[in-house]
Amino acid sequence: MAKRDVLWPIEPHTKGKHLVLENYLAAWWPIMASSNKRVLFIDGFAGPGKYSGEEDGSPIIAMRSLLNSPRRMLRSHVQFRFIEADSTSAEHLKSLCERWKESLPPNCGLQVIPGAFDEHLTSVMDDLEKQSTALDPAFVMIDPFGVSGTPMSVVRRIFKNPRSEVLITYMYEYINRFKSTYSFEHKLDELYGCANWRQALEEIDPARRDRILFDVYEKQLRAAGARYVLRFNLFKGGRLFYALFFGTQDLTGCDKMKQAMWKVAPDGDFAFHGYHTEQLTLGLETVDFVPLMNELSGRFRNSGWVKIEEIENFVRSDETDYHSGHLKVKTLRPMESEGTILVDEKTRRRKFAYTPGTRIRFV
Ligand SMILES: C[S@@+](CC[C@H](N)C(=O)[O-])C[C@H]1O[C@@H](n2cnc3c(N)ncnc32)[C@H](O)[C@@H]1O
Repeated sequence: MAKRDVLWPIEPHTKGKHLVLENYLAAWWPIMASSNKRVLFIDGFAGPGKYSGEEDGSPIIAMRSLLNSPRRMLRSHVQFRFIEADSTSAEHLKSLCERWKESLPPNCGLQVIPGAFDEHLTSVMDDLEKQSTALDPAFVMIDPFGVSGTPMSVVRRIFKNPRSEVLITYMYEYINRFKSTYSFEHKLDELYGCANWRQALEEIDPARRDRILFDVYEKQLRAAGARYVLRFNLFKGGRLFYALFFGTQDLTGCDKMKQAMWKVAPDGDFAFHGYHTEQLTLGLETVDFVPLMNELSGRFRNSGWVKIEEIENFVRSDETDYHSGHLKVKTLRPMESEGTILVDEKTRRRKFAYTPGTRIRFV
């Protein structure tokens, strides 16, 4: 890859990714930093911390979002670890961080680590394993330019802590362009942690080929320990550009990440699309809830009376692109008006309320 200036111009899709990060961390910090002794934020491909137009990079966004969280919620020891392989970028980030150190609360630590993400994490986790412990609960951002240095073997070790999560930029366009180059194939074997992605090389139909590439990666993340995997496709000028994969073992984390994605409105050049319903553009002011109605009917039609909690858990999970905030007023209420659901009146206090314990039947 050509050498670039230490600061480069931010692209619209990067802004989209930053908004997702910021939105998610606004929900993550209060939960994680109030319920764990120690919490880690690892930016594995941290960059220089700024863009040429003075926009903040991901490490700064992470620290700012912690500072914006309610102080009373921040009871854990929080450790920021920013890893950056390029020495000039690492130096730049370090000098920015010096200023930030003063603003962070006393229960925070901060390290800029010059070096490669996989090498650093591997050595940290080797040491922890010798002491029979796992990495602290961590949010790990894996945001490379290409595919090198992001092996599935490292992701697998991150998931050894059930409270850890990963947000990965999957460089679709780059992978699609180079996938049949001999030297590149080995890099993809490492990225995937298996060779099954090579089935895509035999597929002529582009849509089916993309499916294979994405599905195998998703499967591998699950095998590595992610209980829930979300994928959001980022379109640039109408073309699939890259995907953000999020892996977590926690249902609330899954729901919160979907909410974070939905908050990002499409902007001239880019838009996030759903995974289950690819034509669904997230963040539009007018949202189509018919796909969710169909998904719910398909899922529960033959289940008899179902408790609202079970329906909520389905919507919070990775089985749909929608999130819990979309369920009651936007989806169940119109379904009840249309008569496509029946509600057991004995289980609720008033009409159109779906309080805990409410039983619903899809007809
Ligand atoms: C896409 S940029 C990161 C942007 C940053 N996450 C942000 O959103 O502001 C990728 C960065 O990863 C660095 N990098 C490349 N290979 C790396 C590796 N193996 N380990 C750590 N950093 C690496 C590059 O120098 C570059 O600064």
